[in-house]
Amino acid sequence: MNRLRSLRLLATLLVSSALLSTPVAAASREQAAAISIAADKPGAKINRDIFGQFAEHLGTGIYGGIWVGRNSPIPNVRGIRSDVVAALRAIKVPNVRWPGGCFGDEYHWRNGIGRERAVTLNPNWGGVTEPNSFGTEEYMDFLDQIGAEAFLSINVGSGTPQEAAEWLEYLTTDQPTTLGKMRAANGHPAPYRIKYLGVGNENWGCGGAMSPDHYVEEMKRFSRFVRNYNPKQTGPDAMRRIAVGWDAGASDYTDAVAKAWKAKVWSWDIEGISLHSYTVAGWPPHMASTGFDEGDYATLVKDTLNMETLLSKQSAIMDRYDPDKKLTLSVDEWGVWLAPLPGSNPGFLQQQNSLRDAIIAALNLNIFMRHADRVHVANIAQMVNVLQAMIMTDGPKMVLTPTYHVYRMYLPFQDASFIPVTFDAGSYRRGDVVLPRLDAVAARDGSGQLWLAITNLDPERPADIAATIAGARVASASGQLLTAARVDSVNSFDAPHTVEPKAIAAAVRDGRIELTMPPKSVAVLQLR
Ligand code: AHR
Repeated sequence: MNRLRSLRLLATLLVSSALLSTPVAAASREQAAAISIAADKPGAKINRDIFGQFAEHLGTGIYGGIWVGRNSPIPNVRGIRSDVVAALRAIKVPNVRWPGGCFGDEYHWRNGIGRERAVTLNPNWGGVTEPNSFGTEEYMDFLDQIGAEAFLSINVGSGTPQEAAEWLEYLTTDQPTTLGKMRAANGHPAPYRIKYLGVGNENWGCGGAMSPDHYVEEMKRFSRFVRNYNPKQTGPDAMRRIAVGWDAGASDYTDAVAKAWKAKVWSWDIEGISLHSYTVAGWPPHMASTGFDEGDYATLVKDTLNMETLLSKQSAIMDRYDPDKKLTLSVDEWGVWLAPLPGSNPGFLQQQNSLRDAIIAALNLNIFMRHADRVHVANIAQMVNVLQAMIMTDGPKMVLTPTYHVYRMYLPFQDASFIPVTFDAGSYRRGDVVLPRLDAVAARDGSGQLWLAITNLDPERPADIAATIAGARVASASGQLLTAARVDSVNSFDAPHTVEPKAIAAAVRDGRIELTMPPKSVAVLQLR
């Protein structure tokens, strides 16, 4: 082993072993990847709503994962489990999209209010019974407990504009109407806030297989009649309606919706268009969530980086009709969709969550931030126990996933100003797959602090970094690093701390930040 490799190995071991009290210098300055941070050219505000979550009535995402019922031995507040609430509060979840998904286009809200709840079916997800114990009041209570805003998805597929309009009246009126009084009788005299309203869900697919033109006509009716009456939600705080967009390439929903919006007359409006895109590497989902090899890792990371192309294409369509960027692009379903865990109900979409998924989360959040001028909302699928979950539960047990830790590390980026970064990404090659090896984003938070996030997606090679900043003087750089022994390392109920962030400090010489990123790692540094 030559001297250079020995030094690199030493630096990597130091970073990944434990909390570091002394700075870790780059092992080789000559080969360090240059990162230039233009702190003097701040860009768009990173809307904290891109760190939103999605919670559908699917598998144990709600029942067991969030709702355990008032009489459960699992500690809870009004039926909502307290361990999950505490974990979600810690990542400052900005909004939660609910009740679906495909479930949303078959959901009838009256089944889920008051004392008597209808027991219905959930044909989309395992054909199980739906007790409706978690309904409107419980969702709003859950939001209140975790400190998040509502993103309500209304039923366009099998519902009517009248049913949806009545739901919004029930939720938001401060007048003594029958529905307003019903809400008060159910425990909430004050109107609720609804920040986002999803006008249907994938109506090109499970939401009714509508043509773009058909959907546009439905969207106009729903957005015309479904009103938010909350007198406090006016002006810039008014509810934002999100129409269904990109249809997995089958036809052109985004174009049809944006075109209709541009040509609209006074009677209806929308404020955003949605995009759903999963990292799946070919349908049906078949990639294993544990025990996968490096080839699978590279394939899935390559697939996830398509998000950049997709957002650029959708933004370009929206720019044609909306050059002033009034409409939001809402990526309200995204994440890794893998093969169901062996032995689980395939309709429950249960999968493990590994370091690979954390790296994928960081790469996607970075892409959203680069599109901060258009992408103001994003919701990872899904919050608890389903797909790329933040949290997994099993009865009273709870574990935080590697993806959760990325959301926690990225907290400083919520509502910060994007700062342009240019860097030498290098390349990572595995078989036919060639990818940029590094990714980096920077931002300045509301208190003026600078933050830098770096990902080294190469599972084998450490990366030496040398970052310089224009427009700010930096004397120290420290933060957190997430890595683990393997790309498929996971946190389990028995070993919940396998993939957890550790403290790191970089060396700073003459304002130049130097550190070695271990293989397969994500770092967030505060630059002071
Ligand atoms: O998140 C699972 C499902 O994926 C949602 O219900 C649907 O909208 C999408 O196809």
